[in-house]
Amino acid sequence: MSRSEKLVIAVAGKGGTGKTTIAALILRALIDAGVKSILVVDADPDSNLPDVLGVKVEKTVGDVTNELKRAIDKGELPPTLSKKDLLEYKVFKVLKELPTFDLLVMGRTEGEGCYCMVNDVLTEVVDTLSKNYAITLMDMEAGLEHLSRRTDRDVDYLIIVTDPSKMGFQTASRIKKLAGEVHIQFKRIFLVGNKFFPQQEELLYKYAEEIGVEPLGVVPYDENVFRYNLEGTSLLSLPSDSPALMAVREMVKKMGLI
Ligand SMILES: Nc1ncnc2c1ncn2[C@@H]1O[C@H](COP(=O)(O)OP(=O)(O)O)[C@@H](O)[C@H]1O
Ligand SMILES: [Mg+2]
Repeated sequence: MSRSEKLVIAVAGKGGTGKTTIAALILRALIDAGVKSILVVDADPDSNLPDVLGVKVEKTVGDVTNELKRAIDKGELPPTLSKKDLLEYKVFKVLKELPTFDLLVMGRTEGEGCYCMVNDVLTEVVDTLSKNYAITLMDMEAGLEHLSRRTDRDVDYLIIVTDPSKMGFQTASRIKKLAGEVHIQFKRIFLVGNKFFPQQEELLYKYAEEIGVEPLGVVPYDENVFRYNLEGTSLLSLPSDSPALMAVREMVKKMGLI
């Protein structure tokens, strides 16, 4: 491996297209190739990446953010205490450190009211954290809102996942458009077709060209993925010749990550 730059990769797309699955398979391909220093961020409020990876997570960043917000509202914090240091400390405590990767689950912040201060600090903390890793891999939420948040400022590669449906393509197109409007400099934007028949690959290429993104290829429907999810088995233990994993491994190579 000659890659020395630090990369932040975000996986986006319509709900149900396979963002979490693709993120898990990318992680698996990176681990198999011996990539060290990987941070995985579950940025979907309807978090399920830990389950898919077979990791138990007790507390989320949202939980500690809520704690901090409550403490501020109640005036429990001494004014001299740095909120950033405190949040940084709390985020480090919810960071799950595993032998082959670290996992941060964002979760959700509760209630209305302004979280601006906390969110700004949080962004800084996550930005700082990701600088410690060779690769930060983020499983994004289904909506498009996250793209306009500063949290995604440092995204290098955006991977848009679509299934072979009009809705999936339309969402992909909207995400691409939005990516051009927000203040994030994406170095590259890719399109992945998930649950495609191999003969539909042309369709993905055609569509990628239409919306102006790089086609990465298609991932077939994989019985193993279906079965592992049904049984609650970690996708990290899929057989290495499982069709979806083999397809994603090729994509990871194509992006130059391994
Ligand atoms: N290539 C695939 N083969 C078989 N099942 C898949 C594949 N990709 C996704 N799935 C299934 O489709 C459902 C939605 O996938 P998921 O990754 O959770 O989507 P998202 O994160 O975009 O909402 C899950 O039940 C998952 O197991
Ligand atoms: Mg998901």
